[in-house]
Amino acid sequence: MILHKPILFSAIQPSGNLTIGNYIGTMRYWSSMQENYDCLYCIADLHALTTAQKNRLNLKKSILDTLSLYLASGVDPNKSIIFIQSHVHEHSQLNWILNCFSEFSELFRMTQFKQKRKIAKNAIQKINTALFNYPILMAADILLYQTNIVPVGKDQKQHIELTRNIAHRFNSLYGDIFTLPESLISEYGSKIMSLLEPKKKMSKSDINKKNVIYLLDDMHSIIKKINNAVTDSEIPSKIYYDIENKPGISNLLEILSAITNQDITILLKELEGVMYSEFKKIVIDSISKFLYNLQKSYNNYRCDETYLKKIAYEGAIKAQFKSKKTLKRVYDILGIMTLN
Ligand code: TRP
Repeated sequence: MILHKPILFSAIQPSGNLTIGNYIGTMRYWSSMQENYDCLYCIADLHALTTAQKNRLNLKKSILDTLSLYLASGVDPNKSIIFIQSHVHEHSQLNWILNCFSEFSELFRMTQFKQKRKIAKNAIQKINTALFNYPILMAADILLYQTNIVPVGKDQKQHIELTRNIAHRFNSLYGDIFTLPESLISEYGSKIMSLLEPKKKMSKSDINKKNVIYLLDDMHSIIKKINNAVTDSEIPSKIYYDIENKPGISNLLEILSAITNQDITILLKELEGVMYSEFKKIVIDSISKFLYNLQKSYNNYRCDETYLKKIAYEGAIKAQFKSKKTLKRVYDILGIMTLN
């Protein structure tokens, strides 16, 4: 009997540049997860359409940038399926069907939607329906592959819960069609905060670029951004982890811990008696080293678009093969007539 590994699904939107928060919260685990899980790494370009972008040519560029970053962070196309969401039409097809099994009120409760709506309201902007339906497409992404595990940041946990509810609702009516996924959330580093406003999540779409460390930032910007990062005015200054009262320092500690692979408790012993300015130097040094290596590998992939397209093509074929099986069961059970 062949024992299958559990199935893992992960995705990132290719909207704008990826941040060190994306890496720490999600991508840093991807390479090692390939050993223990059957992994699908998706580039969620359809999700990216929910946010307004005037120049759509940027989307193509962002997709290839994101794909190169996936590869640079150690995702291996021989071990995992790497693909672009829009290439696998089954995502849109299951999305519609799951819309018929979702409730308005449960989507209206989603914290991320409420936040996005508030931001749009404040900016006197209209909000599109896709932003409201967004978690249903996520559910389709996940459920198509009979996913067991979804590694996500804390902010996405509610969407995984929703996915489980939709799957459960469907299964109660039609039998065991979908596997109920579990979210996998790391204790530290799943919520990297903004540098200047450390009570707010670091976001790749932040208008204030000084809040964010991008994976493709040059070394000069990194130095500037970390030096400007908010700390606190405790006298005498002391480095310890306290999200409530020392959000800036705690955030820098989380970043340092994640990229050096060292526990915060161990770091704190080494940082005893160290001044904030010295601490920042250490953080700058570690981030620079880490990003230098990542960017070197990224550039090697990014300059070969033929190779990138080949990876995307092969990934789409493999993902289609799997997703068609689930979609066929769903169509059959719902009585949708097919022509073959
Ligand atoms: N919404 C996720 C994000 O912005 C990206 C995403 C799309 C996703 N589909 C998914 C994450 C399915 C996990 C599972 O981070």
